[in-house]
Amino acid sequence: MDKIQITGGNELYGEVKISGAKNAALPLIASSILVNGKTCFSNVPDLMDITSIKLLLEDLGASCRTLKGCLEVDGSSINKAEAEYDLVRKMRASILVLGPLVARFGHAKVSLPGGCAIGARPVNMHLSGLAALGASISIEHGYIEAKAKRLIGNDIYFDMPTVTGTENLMMAASLAKGTSVLRNAAREPEIVALADALTKMGAKINGAGTAIITIEGVKKLSPVDIKIIPDRIETGTFMVACAATGGDILIKGCEPKHIGGIINKLKATGTIVSTFKDSVRIVGKKPIKSVDIKTLPYPGFPTDMQAQFMTLMTIAKGNTMIHESIFENRFVHANELLRMGADIAISQGNIAMVRGVKTLQAAPVMASDLRASASLVIAGLIARGTTVISRVYHMDRGYEAIEKKFSLLGADIKRIN
Ligand code: EPU
Repeated sequence: MDKIQITGGNELYGEVKISGAKNAALPLIASSILVNGKTCFSNVPDLMDITSIKLLLEDLGASCRTLKGCLEVDGSSINKAEAEYDLVRKMRASILVLGPLVARFGHAKVSLPGGCAIGARPVNMHLSGLAALGASISIEHGYIEAKAKRLIGNDIYFDMPTVTGTENLMMAASLAKGTSVLRNAAREPEIVALADALTKMGAKINGAGTAIITIEGVKKLSPVDIKIIPDRIETGTFMVACAATGGDILIKGCEPKHIGGIINKLKATGTIVSTFKDSVRIVGKKPIKSVDIKTLPYPGFPTDMQAQFMTLMTIAKGNTMIHESIFENRFVHANELLRMGADIAISQGNIAMVRGVKTLQAAPVMASDLRASASLVIAGLIARGTTVISRVYHMDRGYEAIEKKFSLLGADIKRIN
């Protein structure tokens, strides 16, 4: 199995180009199920999770091929409405095929995703939303079955904003009869990207990016070309890495409007952040000031940046309180950071108190999930000595060529096996 080896201590300099966003690409690729024709996606990142969704769509009968750097998905040949356990267990976001399948084919059977390293992650709001649209839902032998001759528009209220839940329901409601209103909807840029793509396909959607989204159902959607938006979490990861190591980098091909929560906190640490139309410049400054964070739904500070920010705070001057309010078990990286000399105490499961230390020390560590792996890469870049990170398959799910990108910025980092 691959590992990442990093000898820390180098400052980062130069330019890095951001890839397409995994969490935008996954629902967009799932939306091609709604279309009886070919949908073409550009700026698709080369990631394990993208391979997983392609395999899932191919198993449903869709044909996927790469043409001139674009992913073309032909939904006209879909002849199966069942997403099997072996495919879904590899990636929880496979639940995103549920809404499109039931909306287009009137029935869907999707393996119930289990819990994952960061929390239980139930899908009850996806299911109650589909039930509100008139689907009959049952769970048997580990599979969700949803049936409806045609979904009927309705009011749906989410107990809390759910990203993939909002996406699933937005896709399903696009082909429903009548109008649906999603209340307390998620407001992430990935929701807006999906609404824009569905609108291009012929859907009638208003309010995406706000807490109330109105969808007037249409009879069919048409094939279109879609460009995946830049990855705001990859952008944030490079920003925090440069703040931690010091140096001066230009992050290109990103969307500064999507990362306000991260910019705000990084500036408070003393890091110099300058934004341009589609790039961000970061100049690391010492000493790094400690800054408290609380993860919140967008536009708050993203939970997907909490682990990376915690690593930065391990070498800040002073104490930092980190409150993880989205997932109940998203501090697994803290135990690995402790092995590298960090001083972190966890209380009540979702509050971490980080006391800044002078520097981190290299150690063999293990990645437990995607963003935890990024936090350990940043720790390795800071630490004195050579760090080896194992289980980097977690990182390969969501970061495209991360070691090559850091290496081009001057880091001493390589993949070994
Ligand atoms: N929740 C429920 N019931 C539901 C759905 C969600 O209780 O039916 C809870 C969750 O347990 C959690 C909260 O609602 O406490 C928010 O979860 P959400 O549904 O928004 O998460 P998600 O859609 O499963 C997406 C991203 C995650 C990201 C979260 C939060 C994708 C494919 N995944 O997950 O990304 O952390 O939103 O922003 O978009 C990652 O990229 O590393 C990652 C985990």
